[in-house]
Amino acid sequence: MTDAVPTPATMCIAVLGGTGAEGSGLAFRWAAAGHQVRIGSRDEAKAAAAAAGINQRIGRQTVTGGTNAAAVEGADIVVLTVPYAAQMQTAMSVKEKLSGKILVDVTAPLQPPKVSQVQLPAGGSCVVALQAALGSEVKVVSAFQNVGAHHLPDEAYTIDCDVLVCGDDKAAREAVIRLVEAAGLRGIHAGLLVNSAASEALTSVLIFINRTYKVASAGIRITGLQ
Ligand SMILES: NC(=O)c1ccc[n+]([C@@H]2O[C@H](COP(=O)([O-])OP(=O)(O)OC[C@H]3O[C@@H](n4cnc5c(N)ncnc54)[C@H](OP(=O)(O)O)[C@@H]3O)[C@@H](O)[C@H]2O)c1
Repeated sequence: MTDAVPTPATMCIAVLGGTGAEGSGLAFRWAAAGHQVRIGSRDEAKAAAAAAGINQRIGRQTVTGGTNAAAVEGADIVVLTVPYAAQMQTAMSVKEKLSGKILVDVTAPLQPPKVSQVQLPAGGSCVVALQAALGSEVKVVSAFQNVGAHHLPDEAYTIDCDVLVCGDDKAAREAVIRLVEAAGLRGIHAGLLVNSAASEALTSVLIFINRTYKVASAGIRITGLQ
């Protein structure tokens, strides 16, 4: 179990659902930046294939693949990138292994088919609901809901989007801001976990904008900061 807040130089990052669009893109960026990455999946072979693809692209063997449970073992920080319908079940399946760790929840509570309409769950935030289910042994931090997957696999591309980082533990938020920076993005302290509702809602707004303006990856910027 790793209780310490990780520093960028030492990060071993587990990405649950890291075979998907968002998770594999983030995994690629972190691996390209020199971090150890573990891809988690329901299917070990699928995870191994995703890891091999990233290793081939970056020319190093720093990414491994395995089950979601195996990925969490020994990781400094864990990132959850599965659809809303699978969020609770996936996190709860590794609950014991998450104890003492930071869990970065990327989930936006999209409810197909109306994904361009804000449909927040009862209580307001799916990330707050996950923190309540996991308990205080896990520090849940919300981030990346507004970063489209499209440009993540191109580490040279500057993604024009800020990342709102919400969480109840300031040190954990700070660690996630370092993680955001490691992916080539700007992370911003955006308040307690309850504020995640704003990021979660914005995802549907951005999908609407993408469709209306026929673009792949509209983003958000916070102005007025130095
Ligand atoms: N895509 C984007 O542009 C984007 C942008 C911002 C935020 N997000 C959020 O990021 C999360 C992941 O999005 P995504 O587009 O990457 O999703 P995705 O590609 O549809 O799924 C990601 C992974 O989740 C696992 N998964 C899928 N269905 C599952 C189920 N029923 N039960 C358990 N695991 C399941 C699969 O991994 P295995 O089959 O390997 O287990 C899959 O590869 C979502 O919550 C989404 O709202 C996405």
